[in-house]
Amino acid sequence: MVGIETSDDAAVYRISDEIALIQTVDFFTPVVDDPYTFGQIAAANALSDVYAMGGIPKIALNIVGFPNCLDPEILGEILAGGADKVREAGAVLTGGHSVQDDEPKYGLCVTGFVHPDKVLKNCGCRPGDALVLTKQIGSGIINTAVKADMASPESVREAVAVMTSLNAKAAAVMAKYPVNACTDVTGFGLLGHCMEMAKGSGVTFEIGVRNVSLIEGSAELAQMGLVPAGAYRNRSFTESGMTASGIEEYYLDLLHDPQTSGGLLISIPSEYLDAFTADLTSAGIGTEISVIGTVKEKEDVYIRLI
Ligand code: CO
Ligand code: CO
Repeated sequence: MVGIETSDDAAVYRISDEIALIQTVDFFTPVVDDPYTFGQIAAANALSDVYAMGGIPKIALNIVGFPNCLDPEILGEILAGGADKVREAGAVLTGGHSVQDDEPKYGLCVTGFVHPDKVLKNCGCRPGDALVLTKQIGSGIINTAVKADMASPESVREAVAVMTSLNAKAAAVMAKYPVNACTDVTGFGLLGHCMEMAKGSGVTFEIGVRNVSLIEGSAELAQMGLVPAGAYRNRSFTESGMTASGIEEYYLDLLHDPQTSGGLLISIPSEYLDAFTADLTSAGIGTEISVIGTVKEKEDVYIRLI
């Protein structure tokens, strides 16, 4: 039902009229120093693509690269972090595969299920939709600042809370509404993922940049130039399809900051917006919800920042 054509979050295969299988894989090198926290983040990130398709994760397999020279206890902690997140998601961890590697790497291959009529692609946005983001952004900038010893403890705590939190509760609320499209915000940054959705849907996104929720300190750090290289790659991807008059350069960097285990970006008919955001709030998702813009009929650009 979903293949690689529109760079969606996962593959979807119809098994019967009642059930479709969702398949995805994701793994990366450590983004934080603490091994248990890294395991949690990598697992939350991999599980997220199932939620972004409207599904529920059921089975997970570990993917591990680990150097011989490091204490195996570190690997034990990474795996414990991952296992705890898989358990929290209500899925089962059934094994995995490891190889010797120069640098630690960890992630999951995840299988989930969804009703074939409830599959959420990244390209179904319709004019009149509201755009809702379920986590604050800036984790890439905070991670970059950590390496330079420039991030405050509050910023680090908030970034870790954002990256380790599952998109499960937001996805459960989403399943009760006639949502038109969804993706999760990861490596392409907020505007990179907006660009994919708008292009795929043949619409224009009007984004109110000051409405986007930010991790404490990320704007100040972006202003100081603590921006990961990926943000500049993401900017070159959106450049030709976007107008951003009057928006400061550092703010554009921030909106293109590659996210690790970011929130869901949801396109929902505006008549449901108030009930939807109220439901998200009462579900206690633990991260900041922001209504970042609206979907318009296709203009000469795919994204217009205001
Ligand atoms: Co994704
Ligand atoms: Co992914």
